[in-house]
Amino acid sequence: MPGTIAAQTVEQLGGRSSVLARQRRDHAELDRLMDQYQAPGDVENRERVLKETIQLVFSHAFAEETVLWPAVRRSVADGEELTARVEEEHQEINDLVFEIERLGPGAPEREEKVRRVFALIRQDIRDEEDLLLPRLQEAVDPVHLRRLGASWEAVRKSAPTHPHPVVPRRPPGNAVLGVPLSLYDRIRDGLGLGSPVAAVRKMLSRLVGMLLSAVAVVRERR
Ligand SMILES: [Fe+2]
Ligand SMILES: [Fe+2]
Repeated sequence: MPGTIAAQTVEQLGGRSSVLARQRRDHAELDRLMDQYQAPGDVENRERVLKETIQLVFSHAFAEETVLWPAVRRSVADGEELTARVEEEHQEINDLVFEIERLGPGAPEREEKVRRVFALIRQDIRDEEDLLLPRLQEAVDPVHLRRLGASWEAVRKSAPTHPHPVVPRRPPGNAVLGVPLSLYDRIRDGLGLGSPVAAVRKMLSRLVGMLLSAVAVVRERR
């Protein structure tokens, strides 16, 4: 079995567009953001970094649950057991971030929850890079890895960006609820960032992206 994807070259992972290389890039970005949040800095900047971390964690994980874990269950013998473990981690991350967002900045118990969620995200990354993704790499060829990469990226770009306690971790339930919730999340994110016109324009392009990613999921599942 190939070893951890952390120690392989991009070529060994199937090239830059392979789902393995894309996963590793996102994981490195998450690591960077979490380190930045934990470094000393002003409150406003740390809040911005935390928000960015949460948005990336949720879009990344939603695309895994919609595109990648079903592919692992189809092609790896003990895929069911392997994906159940990371889905549990995702659920714990979901519940903790829901609490963090509910408490808001400055709440005394919030920092402890942020520390716990960061530890879980780091554990999730290790489980994926060291156990689950090498198993997928062993089971499918590089062309399939690149095709999965394209589907994963399309869903990730238009996925929900915040926790939602009601969303199931598996398709088709997550994909069905994901579209309206993603729209809702991105309106929230968009309104916090720029003018209403810019937010609406951004939303329309996201909506088109969501439709395209729904098509990508249907194609991948065939
Ligand atoms: Fe991941
Ligand atoms: Fe994950």
